Parts: sequence; structure tokens; C-alpha cells
Amino acid sequence: MKTSQLVELENEVLLKTYARPPVVMSHGVGARLYDVEGRSYLDFIAGIAVNGLGYGDQDVLDTLKKQAEKIWHVSNLYHTEPQILLAKALVDYTFADRVFFCNSGTEAIEGAIKLARKWSRQKTGRKQVEILAFKDSFHGRSYGGLSATGQPKFWQDFEPMLPGFNHATFNDMDSVKSAWNENTAAVLLEPIQGEGGIFPVEKSFLQELRQWCDEHQALLIFDEIQCGLGRTGYFCAHDYYGITPDIMTLAKPLAAGLPMGAILMTEQVAEPISVGHHGSTFGGGPLVCQVARTVLDKLSNPALLQNVKNMGAFFVESIKAKNLPAVQAIRGRGLMVGVQVDADPGTIVKKCFDNGLLIGKAGNQTLRFVPPLIVQRSDIEQAVDIFAKALSD
Ligand SMILES: Cc1ncc(COP(=O)(O)O)c(C=O)c1O
Repeated sequence: MKTSQLVELENEVLLKTYARPPVVMSHGVGARLYDVEGRSYLDFIAGIAVNGLGYGDQDVLDTLKKQAEKIWHVSNLYHTEPQILLAKALVDYTFADRVFFCNSGTEAIEGAIKLARKWSRQKTGRKQVEILAFKDSFHGRSYGGLSATGQPKFWQDFEPMLPGFNHATFNDMDSVKSAWNENTAAVLLEPIQGEGGIFPVEKSFLQELRQWCDEHQALLIFDEIQCGLGRTGYFCAHDYYGITPDIMTLAKPLAAGLPMGAILMTEQVAEPISVGHHGSTFGGGPLVCQVARTVLDKLSNPALLQNVKNMGAFFVESIKAKNLPAVQAIRGRGLMVGVQVDADPGTIVKKCFDNGLLIGKAGNQTLRFVPPLIVQRSDIEQAVDIFAKALSD
């Protein structure tokens, strides 16, 4: 079918939750995406920070084919080698002692909330358990994730949100202290707020928060769904700070675009959980787990992480070198960059799109750049040229 026919049909049959440009995407190679008419786009949104390895990675494809020929679903009633070995890899690479697999970011957040509530009741004897999250955060679209999300615009018309969530100001310890009460069981934060506008957490704040949680028998939960797995040039975003959480959620790039989430935790968090307390029909199936093993091998490679650091720095320098008056601030780390502009971000996204560059928005006035982690200098030069032209237009 032609593009116009497909777009027309979509308007009739799909729930209208997305504002899409009138093109139909077809396939991709490296950092480039192609539509069905053969037009190519330099992809600096990368499936919203999912396609870390770009499109068509040969190792991922080989793994996928090989595992698909063997088996792709077993259920969690039985052991499978891919699931066990993937958990072992995650434990080896991180602070965690144990892992639970699910199917998305929001599901990982749901599980993290359950773990925190159980731990708090059992280990501290609290009857009420509250989670302290942050304003401008984003943690997903299910009711747990949405209730944790500190942006009321996402709640509107879907209320009531779940009880037991409070929101403090990010990077403000006084705000944490005044939002605290004896029921606060856990603090949940993104080490770099993504949807909220690309705001990295400050090291001194994170240090104080870690200490405060320890002193008040509360858990620290990092949502690394967007900023984790190499995006910042560190395997985990929190590796930059040298501060570890009690629970961490992962998703987006974990299985190279196949739906997958994971909850990582320390032994003390895992201890109160036993058979029947949590589960998933699809979570941790052999196909996604085998793919994720290949992905992890690649995303933990020091050469790839160095590329992320180098290309991130080159990207920021290149934007600065253009001396664009509309640029008000550049934030982020590695290849998770937000450029705050004195212009309508929607118009800039559209102008970039018209010139073959895909980018996204974050927060109010910020453009979000989360390209594949394999991008090269020439991709960045081209992206910055298109972006600069869009802004000066
Ligand atoms: C930090 C963060 N947490 C949670 C989510 C929700 O993940 P998912 O869309 O896979 O449910 C997102 C998605 O953008 C995210 O960026």
C-alpha cells in the first residue's frame, strides 16, 4: 500500500495516542532509518533511546535467528539457560545480587514498587509505605508508574492516582526532608531525568540522599530505563557517581528493541520475596534473554562506552561552535543530550524531520538527542548542521 493509503487507514483504525508525521517507516541500517518511499533519515531519537546498537546489528540478528529456530517461549514454570545466564551477566556487571525479568519499563517500575513495599513492611515493620519520587520525573504509563511520575499533565483525566506517592524537588535535599515522613519506604529517581528535560542528578545531592536513606531505613531506587546501559558512556548511569542503589530498573535497549524490562536488586531487598509474590507470563523468555545477552556483551564493551563519551563530547562542542543564539542550555551526559531552546520545540522537530533528521522533545523547551551509541563523527556533523539550520530558519 502507498503511504497516503496507510496513513488514512491508520486514522480509521488506531487509537489516536501519537502525533506522527505522514511517512511510513520501513527499515534501517546503522544510524539511518528509511521510509517506504526510500527516503532516509539520520536517527537521533533511536526508538526513544532503545536502538543503542543502531539498526540491523549483525550479532543481534544472528542471535535472534539462531534462538528463534530453537525456542522462543517456555513460560516461567521452567528453567531456561538464556534467562539464567542473562541474570548472571547483569549481576556481574552491576551492584545487584538478583534480577527479575519483565516486558517493559513501566512493568519494571511496578515490580520495584512492590519490592520496596514488601521490604519495608517486613524489614522495618512499617504499616503504611510511601514512595518519594520527584517533580518532572517520568516512570511509565501504568498506574504505579504514572503515580510515581511527577508531572500532573500525565495524570489529568486519569485520576485518582494510587495513594502512597509524594514528589519532592529534584536536586533539593531540603525538599526531600520536608516531603519525608515516617512512612517513607523508598526514594525513586532517574539519575538523569529524561522526559522531564534531560536533567542530571547532582553528585552531592545523590550522596546525601544515599546517606539519608540508609539513616532512615529507606531504599534508594534508580530508574535507569532511559539513561542506563551505556547511554551516558558508563554501563550504568550511576557508575559516573560511584553511588549504588538498592533497586534499579532497566528496559529500553536491553533486548535491542524486543520488549524487555528488568528489576535488579540487592540480596536484602530480594530476601522477603518468595514463590508467588510476583510473576510474568512473558517476562524473561528465552528469545529476548538470548538477544539481551548479545546486547549486554556489546553495550559493556569499553570501546563502545568510549565512543559514547567521545561522540557525546563532540556533539556538544559542535553545537556550541555554531553559536546559535536560540540555544539557552545544553545538558546531559554521553549520548543523552538535551538542548534547551528559545523557540518552539515542535517546530524545530518538524524542520529537522523535513531535512532528514529525527529528534525528539523533552520537558518544556528542550530538544532530546539520544542517537544510537554507534554513531560516528560524520553522523554528528550532519545532524548538527541540520539542527543549526532548523534553529536559524
Ligand atoms: C525513565 C523512564 N522510566 C520508565 C519509562 C517507561 O518505560 P516503558 O515505555 O517501556 O513502559 C520510560 C519511558 O520512556 C522512561 O524514560
